[in-house]
Amino acid sequence: MNDNLKDFLQKTNIQEKISAKDIESILSLNKTQEINNLYNEAYLIKKKEVSNTVYFRGLIELSNICNKDCYYCGIRKSNKKVKRYMISENEVLKAAKWAFEHRYASIVLQSGERNDDEFISFVENILKKIKKISNNKLGITISLGEHSLETYKRWFEAGAHRYLLRIETSNQKLYNKLHPKNHSFENRIDCLKKIKKIGYQTGTGVMIGLPGQTTLDLANDLLFFKEMDIDMIGMGPYIPHNETPINNIAQGKMIPKEKRLELSLKMIAIARILLKNINIAATTALETISDTGKELGLKAGANVLMPNITDIKYRSSYKLYDGKPCLAEDNSHYQHYLENRIQAIGEKIGYDKWGDSLHYKAYFATASTNI
Ligand code: 5AD
Repeated sequence: MNDNLKDFLQKTNIQEKISAKDIESILSLNKTQEINNLYNEAYLIKKKEVSNTVYFRGLIELSNICNKDCYYCGIRKSNKKVKRYMISENEVLKAAKWAFEHRYASIVLQSGERNDDEFISFVENILKKIKKISNNKLGITISLGEHSLETYKRWFEAGAHRYLLRIETSNQKLYNKLHPKNHSFENRIDCLKKIKKIGYQTGTGVMIGLPGQTTLDLANDLLFFKEMDIDMIGMGPYIPHNETPINNIAQGKMIPKEKRLELSLKMIAIARILLKNINIAATTALETISDTGKELGLKAGANVLMPNITDIKYRSSYKLYDGKPCLAEDNSHYQHYLENRIQAIGEKIGYDKWGDSLHYKAYFATASTNI
């Protein structure tokens, strides 16, 4: 085994402080055998800490209307080519019911960012209704961007118990390059703190292989996750979108797709080794750059999948990046496909179980009741 990897494993084992340099040395592994060793070690830790059970979160994309104008994102406010939509209450309930009946046990409500009262009340109301139709049994993660403490509280009280808010990059300078001036890095951190304080299981993540991003940045991202003591991670490769400013800047400066895939898998593996019992998603972006992205993610240490269950008529309008898969995939068909793929790599599906972050449970043993 590579000496740096051996050293890293030993340090994490005895909880010795890990430096960005330690992580960089792992991100820089370049021999296939050494990289596979890294994934295998991460997989062993995953099995020990969170088992080989994969949890499904049915993803419902509520709306692509967004107040934000992030330079990398396909549904940014200034992209006039997007047909904007807002899902109806009945459509959300129908999708939630489908997830529940198909034993997914959890859903994720994700949306472009809207801070108006109408939207905030819509979400509050829908959370209560989802809880009601599922007899409190459906777990709900929300991923709705930056809001006030009061809004986060309202949604928590209405039934959401996990929140995803990616920091996108923990390097403030890079963050500022990727966003317009009125998007605040400090506010994003502040939001993560509010979310945590309220008692949500808190998830964050970054994009990997962004133009201008270094391995030191990625190493610091992982240290950021540790320092913030987060419960869940959703991270994946940056994928250009044609109608975005970064796409033009990125041309010629991007690291190749295969490298972005490899870096993303290394990030998952290091996150698993470093943070042990958290939940880590194998994201759609991984699946976008590789047909076997999900499986590779699971084999490198991820334990959550987020199958898209949004009504098919909306899916092509929620394109954060080009090449998003499953635009016309029937839910039941995709479920069977996933079952086969997961079984083929020797893993199980945690049907009817929330599969909460064990990391969170360790600290807030009484905060949520699992089913
Ligand atoms: N490539 C990869 N991920 C992206 N996201 C947005 N745009 C892109 C892109 N071009 C991710 C961001 C955001 C999440 C919902 O989608 O990390 O937080």
